[in-house]
Order: sequence, then C-alpha cells, then structure tokens
Amino acid sequence: MTAPNRRINAETVDFDQLWRDPYPTFARLRATNPVAFVPQADHYFITRFDDIAHIERHPAIFRASEPRSLVNRVMGHSFMRKDDEEHMVERKIVAPSFSPAAAKKVWSDTFREIAADLLDDLQDRGSADLVADFATPMAARSLCTVTGLTNIAWQDIARWSQALMDAVQNYARDPELARLGQEASDGIDAAIDAMIPVRRANPDRSILSMMLAGDMPLDSIRANLKVIIGGGQNEPRDANSGLIWALLSNPDQLSAVKADPSLWLRGFEEYVRWVSPIGMYPRTVGQETELAGVPLKPGDRLFLLVGSANRDEAQFRDPDRFDLHREESRHLAFGSGPHFCAGAWVARAQVADIAVPMLFERLKNLELDDSGEPARCGGWAFRGLLTLPARWSA
Ligand code: HEM
Repeated sequence: MTAPNRRINAETVDFDQLWRDPYPTFARLRATNPVAFVPQADHYFITRFDDIAHIERHPAIFRASEPRSLVNRVMGHSFMRKDDEEHMVERKIVAPSFSPAAAKKVWSDTFREIAADLLDDLQDRGSADLVADFATPMAARSLCTVTGLTNIAWQDIARWSQALMDAVQNYARDPELARLGQEASDGIDAAIDAMIPVRRANPDRSILSMMLAGDMPLDSIRANLKVIIGGGQNEPRDANSGLIWALLSNPDQLSAVKADPSLWLRGFEEYVRWVSPIGMYPRTVGQETELAGVPLKPGDRLFLLVGSANRDEAQFRDPDRFDLHREESRHLAFGSGPHFCAGAWVARAQVADIAVPMLFERLKNLELDDSGEPARCGGWAFRGLLTLPARWSA
C-alpha cells in the first residue's frame, strides 16, 4: 500500500467554526484524515489519541524545541520548548514547588484562604459571573503565591497572562497584540528583578526561590516564569469555571459528588478530558518517520490536538458526554511524556480539593442564571468558558 502524500492528506479547516465548536471538525478529521496537513496553519493536525500517545512516547523523534517560534520570541527560551538534558535540568530545579506534597502541605492553606475570601464577598451578592468574579481571581491570586511574585497585583498577573497567550498566537502579526505581549513581558521582568533580593533573603517553596537555590541563569528564570504565568492562569481558571458549569448542567452528577467527596477529583479529571483547557500544543519532527501511514520529515511541524484525542471514540465510550463515572480515566489534558504538565498537582489541589467544593458548600441553591445571556464557551487551542452567569440564595 502506498502512503498518502501531502496533497492527498491536505485539509482545509474553518478556524471560526473551530473556535466556536471544534468537536465536529475534530470528529471528521479523526475519522477521515487523522494526520492532516493544514496549509493555512502550515502544520499537521494530529487528532487521534493513539497517535498523540505514540508521539509523546518518542521524544527523540518528536521534539518540543521550536527555535524560531513566536513563543520563544515573546517569552524567551523556556524549558517547555527545550529537550533532553537541557529540559530536565531546569524542570528538576522547580520540581519541589510542584510536587504533590507541596500542593497539599504548602499551597493548600493559601488556596483555602483565597477561596474563603472570594466567597465571603460573593455570598451576599446572590448572583455573579463566576468566570470574572471567582475563577479568574482564584487562579491569579494562587499563581502569585506559587510563583513567589507576590509583588504583582492579581489583576495584573491575569491581564499579563492573557496578553502573553494572545501574543504567542499572534500569527497575523497584529501590532497591538505584540505591544501588549511586550508590555506584559517587561512588567514580569521588573517584578522578578524586584523579588530576587526578597526571595534570596527569605527563601520559601515558591518557584522563584527554587530557581535561585538551583542557580538558574536569569534568562531562564525570566522565560520559565513567563511560561508558568501563561499556563498557570487560564487553565486552572477554565477548569474551575468549567467544572462548576458541568456539574450545574448535570444535577444527578452534582448530587453524586456531594454525597461522595472523593468524586471531586474524578469530576475535575473528567471535565479536563471533556473540554481540555489546552486543546493543542506543538511538536516538531526531528528525524524521518511515519505516523498512521503518513511519511514525515525533519522540520515538519505538528499540532497535537489533545482536545480531539480526549474525545476519541476509539478510547472513550460516548466521548461527547460529561460523565464522571466513566471507567476509562486516562486522558491527555495534561500532555504526556517528559513535558507532562508540571502544575497538574497544584491545579488539582486548587480547583478539585478546594475552590469548587467550597463554592458549592457556601453558595446555597446555586444554579445557572438563564435570565440573560447563557454561559458561553470559546476556543480550540485553548478552550474555556467566557462567562458563567449564576445565582444563589443570598
Ligand atoms: C487544569 C489546569 C492545567 C492544564 C489542563 C494544563 C495543561 C498542560 C499541558 C497540556 C502541558 C504540556 C504542554 C507541552 O508539552 O507543550 C502543560 C505543561 C506545563 N504546565 Fe500545565 N496545565 C494546567 C495547570 C498548570 C499550572 C497551574 C501550572 C503552574 C502553576 C502549570 C505549569 C506548566 C508547566 C511549567 C508546563 C511545562 C512542563 C515541561 O515542559 O516540562 N500548568 N500543562
């Protein structure tokens, strides 16, 4: 059998449609063209679970480095875009801030204080947009603590995180997005410079403290903290608001979680499978290879669409349904292999152990507020709720 060539597996994709609702396109690609070359993006779209798992099992062939990428230009050369020893050295330095023990014993008390403080304010209001008024400040204030950049206001870290994410996807070279990205990058550099002497004098378990203890070069400290601010804000925010939305939309599953608190974590994992906050991340082919019968050569660029893989019907029964009781629990929402999300345990502690259970406990008779605009979701590379109007008994 001859392998299909690029012309045969080229595919046109409607990016507006993808942003609104990517799942029909993902299903079509999985069924008909799972390694599809999309000329508009100059990348192959990899949509099946097994193919992405294969890629992540072979980091010598499929590389995370992208020397000429926008992400490197905007944030600098972070460990997320390095390979092998170069990646491992820096990842090991920050590991103590991210361990399950740090998440439970060091960060959870602060996460609890932040959630309680936000809910004290919300409780008497009776209604709010839970994206803007709960999930966003919860993620941002947590991130200031974990990074060690406690000199940044939560509103700034949230805004800068968004500006960095917009700038790294600014393929159309919009000058305003580039300017906002630069402003965010400069603001973060200034905050790091100001906090270095503070953390040297008073070391703690924060990421900046670990970087200083590990003698990480300043360029790497800056690039790595930017990647952490980019990834550590929107994803827990989206998992937080998304899990609330999924449970309010499925009252039987909400009752099950309330009756058995061990299910909060399953609900969280099922939500990030169902609507993966990072729906796509890139890899570059490092040596000649073949994927699902498609020949690939060095320099070919791939988008790993985990948002599609996590809905792969070959892997999950009834994949479009949110079902925290499902038996198949292995998903790719945190990636896989050497770059598996460093912040997974921190996100689980923040969202599944603390923020969402406390919200349901404190806001009595919580329900979706359908009196105006309904909750809205958007995105495919990053996907989450844009708004979550809700009300409760004040
Ligand atoms: C629900 C929440 C989260 C999701 C779904 C998520 C998802 C991911 C994914 C898919 C990757 C792999 C990216 C790649 O290989 O290119 C990743 C990497 C990473 N994430 Fe997360 N993330 C979350 C929360 C966080 C948090 C809270 C932090 C930090 C405070 C964080 C820090 C990182 C870092 C540093 C990496 C790079 C790891 C490496 O290259 O070795 N993440 N994350």
